[in-house]
Amino acid sequence: MNKPILISGIQPTGRLHLGNYLGALKNFVELQNSGKYECYFFIADLHALTENPEAKDLSTNIMNLAADFIAAGLDPKKSVIFLQSQIKNLPELKWILSTLVPPGELLRMTAFKEKVLQALKKEEREKLTKEEYDRIVENTNYGLVEYPILMAADILICNGQFVPVGHDQLQHLELARTIARKFNKKFGETFKEPQALLTKTSRVMSLSDPEKKMSKSQPEGCLFLDDSEEEIELKIKRAVTDSGAEIKYDPDKKPGISNLLLIYGALSGKQISILENKYKGKGYGQFKSDLIKIISGALKPFRTKKMADAKLKTILKSGAQKAQKIASAKMKEVKEKLGLLL
Ligand code: ADP
Ligand code: TRP
Repeated sequence: MNKPILISGIQPTGRLHLGNYLGALKNFVELQNSGKYECYFFIADLHALTENPEAKDLSTNIMNLAADFIAAGLDPKKSVIFLQSQIKNLPELKWILSTLVPPGELLRMTAFKEKVLQALKKEEREKLTKEEYDRIVENTNYGLVEYPILMAADILICNGQFVPVGHDQLQHLELARTIARKFNKKFGETFKEPQALLTKTSRVMSLSDPEKKMSKSQPEGCLFLDDSEEEIELKIKRAVTDSGAEIKYDPDKKPGISNLLLIYGALSGKQISILENKYKGKGYGQFKSDLIKIISGALKPFRTKKMADAKLKTILKSGAQKAQKIASAKMKEVKEKLGLLL
């Protein structure tokens, strides 16, 4: 029996942080090692173009992300690891799928709205009129609008059935399901509707503002995977906790300590209730100093990663060849269904 296909990608837009790791990358490795899936993991370099990076930064980020994939435990013998831009039919499928999506649906995406408003301060956002918002949207790059269609194409071109992602990607995945459904209805059963796989830590919160998700657009609340031991110590010591000294999981009343408990639990494999018991009657100081050790230990592979670029490129190239096979077969099927002559 063929195993179901699992696929996910991460954009090479900068250093990975603990949210990326606990929401996505760590799960990629566990799912790979479960042996239950045929796994495809890729670097979403075409998506990263929506941020208009400098060429040299983009190529550095691509190689860094490839090294992070390997440091985390992704194994080219077990998973297909590749670069999105090396799949040549992808833009073709994206175009085909775009004919099934009304622009209004794209303009309403939460991630799109957040992206276009990213440069504005909170007060500026609150004052923004509808006309001002529309003007910003008209002047944004079109790639940001189409972003979710490319993401649907990534998944559907590889027959992806399961997609491990963080919470913020659920809306994009819902669109991929809608597109698959529409296509199947019109042209006959072609795509599986992809399903998200979430971890318990699908929304790691910022260390400096636990009401917001950890995100590289707010580096002050981010713990980066390659932060030095000193930086880890400083950031955890400074992490916002809540009033009262109790170490208790209560995301509404104690969002700061609850976030730290989730991080501790995910990295140590211990249940939250066990941790609450362990720290009963002890203060934040002891808890934080243990957490610093746990984080430092878990992130060591990212601080010391050192696979040579040439070797990483060989891995990506051989992965792209494998992914291309499945993509070419899928495109042939899609074109037949559409009535495009082969
Ligand atoms: P960022 O939001 O920092 O720009 P990306 O959009 O590149 O991160 O996300 C890469 C992966 O990490 C996605 O699967 C995303 O859902 C996940 N992710 C990002 N931030 C978090 C977070 N704070 N908690 C959990 N998962 C996250
Ligand atoms: N949009 C995803 C993110 O920001 C990255 C991504 C691109 C992706 N294509 C994908 C994730 C396909 C899963 C499947 O993290």
